[in-house]
Amino acid sequence: MIIRVETNPAYDVLVERGSLSEVGSIFNLNRKVLVLTDSGVPAEYAQYVASKAKEGHIFIIPQGEASKNLDSFKSVIAYMLDHEFSRKDCVVAVGGGVCGDLAGFISACYMRGIEFYNIPTTLISMVDSSIGGKTAVDLEGYKNVVGAFYQPSAVLIDPNTLKTLDERQIHAGLVEAFKMGATCDKDLFELIEKSNDLEGDIESIIIGALNIKKRVVEQDTKEAGLRKVLNFGHTVGHAIESGANLTLLHGECVGIGMLYVSKGDAKERIRSLLKKYSLPQSHKVEEEALMELMARDKKTSNRNVDVVLVEEIGSFEIRNIPLEDMRKLLKGEWL
Ligand code: GLY
Repeated sequence: MIIRVETNPAYDVLVERGSLSEVGSIFNLNRKVLVLTDSGVPAEYAQYVASKAKEGHIFIIPQGEASKNLDSFKSVIAYMLDHEFSRKDCVVAVGGGVCGDLAGFISACYMRGIEFYNIPTTLISMVDSSIGGKTAVDLEGYKNVVGAFYQPSAVLIDPNTLKTLDERQIHAGLVEAFKMGATCDKDLFELIEKSNDLEGDIESIIIGALNIKKRVVEQDTKEAGLRKVLNFGHTVGHAIESGANLTLLHGECVGIGMLYVSKGDAKERIRSLLKKYSLPQSHKVEEEALMELMARDKKTSNRNVDVVLVEEIGSFEIRNIPLEDMRKLLKGEWL
């Protein structure tokens, strides 16, 4: 299945089992290609992509969020300069969100813009970060504060690459898919609720989530309004993630974060899904620490925050509230 994302520029996202073996005919690799991957991704994926290039180079960063920084950015750029990459060459990310965000940002900056392709190999990056053009690195403890909107030229999603991912990572990634369902598509939410064969259903779930994200980013690429819906569960979730010192995965924190900003039957259905997929429903970060972390979040402006609220699965409301009102939600009260 090909999903066309009509942003400016527009691009195709191919979702198909086994499509990695077609990469040479889907991407234009007839030039110098920098394949950026991380130490946790099976090496053969990057090697395969590089083998299809006219001149393939593989750059491996250590696995984990700590690599998404300006030091990695500088090392990759220096490598590309040393190997005389021109603006006509390209970068391919092979890995999760860290690889994609870093490779995208490098591509946006190298010689003011070089073509960028993405091959997400984790569920979370397949359903969310691989499309929409958000690229960034972290700085001084702030997530994604240095970055650019820069669209890939194409995205290739091969669900077979998920076979090497452990169950905890898959379930954490699934949270970003049921985020799309909880806010925008009750059928997708139900598909995840009812699934008894996650591996068999995963392609439909990825396609369902991408179709929602596509519609959102086409209408609001730069997050002036509607795109904020994709932050459902993230305001509290990011704070939990930092407060728990990265002991919980991003998706796990977002899942817990959703419980604070949903109500009634919607909240119970989200809680049941967390349970079904053995995802945490609570954390140990103190309220005051969460409040401080939310104040530092880049989504907070002048001590006000846009919060996405869900009272019924498949619909949402975005409300701008004083940060102090987040305390009510943290205490389990409603606004
Ligand atoms: N992951 C949220 C967004 O792309 O806007």
